[in-house]
Amino acid sequence: MKKRLFSGIQPSGDIHIGNYLGALKNWVAMARQYDSIFCVVDYHAITIPYDTAGFRSRILHTAAMLMAVGLKPEECKIFVQSHVPEHTELCWVLSTVIQMGHLERMIQYKEKSKQHAENINVGLFTYPVLQAADILIYKAEVVPVGEDQIQHIELSREIARKFNTRFGPIFPEPLEKVSAGARIMGLDGQAKMSKSLGNTIALTDTPEIIHQKLKTAVTDVNRKRRSDTGNPDVCNLFTLHKYFSGSETVDEINKECRNAGIGCIDCKTKLAAHMSAELNPIRERYNAIVSHTEDVVGHLESGANQCREMARQTMGEVRSAIGIR
Ligand code: TYM
Repeated sequence: MKKRLFSGIQPSGDIHIGNYLGALKNWVAMARQYDSIFCVVDYHAITIPYDTAGFRSRILHTAAMLMAVGLKPEECKIFVQSHVPEHTELCWVLSTVIQMGHLERMIQYKEKSKQHAENINVGLFTYPVLQAADILIYKAEVVPVGEDQIQHIELSREIARKFNTRFGPIFPEPLEKVSAGARIMGLDGQAKMSKSLGNTIALTDTPEIIHQKLKTAVTDVNRKRRSDTGNPDVCNLFTLHKYFSGSETVDEINKECRNAGIGCIDCKTKLAAHMSAELNPIRERYNAIVSHTEDVVGHLESGANQCREMARQTMGEVRSAIGIR
């Protein structure tokens, strides 16, 4: 029996290389090894301001991108969170076993409350409980995520533990699985790459856009002139070279940057070429997939049908454990 894996992504903007290196690439590598479920978490995405008119197409496009990076609907389940209402039902039950103090400590809640000070809604606060429900409703044991989600998975463990102690052993305690690219910095070199900060390279960016964006990206700030020697250890773009360029290029840049043999402009041109080589096939597959959204809709329906069965089963156990049935 394969262990069950669950992970999710919000349909809240263009999927970027942070999502790709921190999560999606890992999902593709792990999908067949596990009984894998991947979810477009639309109910999570409505906790911050969003455009209702374009939302459905964003949801479909996010699912299309999951398929374009290499997830195959025949090998794993891909579905939309709101298509399986048991997630929100379980969220309610779980919200009665976790204390407010736990949720108040969530870093993402604090950050989002600052970013959206005019709209600190209850959903933003209970967001991690819905995330726990996403995972626990399928009794998933493995959750591949980027670093910013570790605290939420720890909380999911805490919620599972508290539920089991009070009502009996229903849920396994899920473990996060974090990859090497778990925290990709934005092109500003200041903050984590993030849809909301506009410091991203999207998986749909063309080679021209990628090169253009890299031209303005921050490198080693102490290297002011071409003749200065640089320090790759503090250069965000060197980190990206490690993910996109082969070891030969990485070794060469490591050496040549330190002795001013290569300048930032050439280094960026090389990175743009390697990045484009990896992203081009993804963009092409994505464009082909979104030109047939009816197929995407079909895959999502079949994913939701399978997931609904599992979710109903767990909710049955939960209702009986809490004494409702
Ligand atoms: P979301 O949509 O913000 O991000 C999706 C995945 O991308 C990772 N990620 C990054 N990794 C490395 N560097 C970055 N700069 C970077 N930015 C984003 C995230 O860590 C995440 O793995 N709450 C989740 C969605 C969710 C979920 C779940 C995840 C809902 N329910 C259940 C796992 C299990 C989120 O906001 O992801």
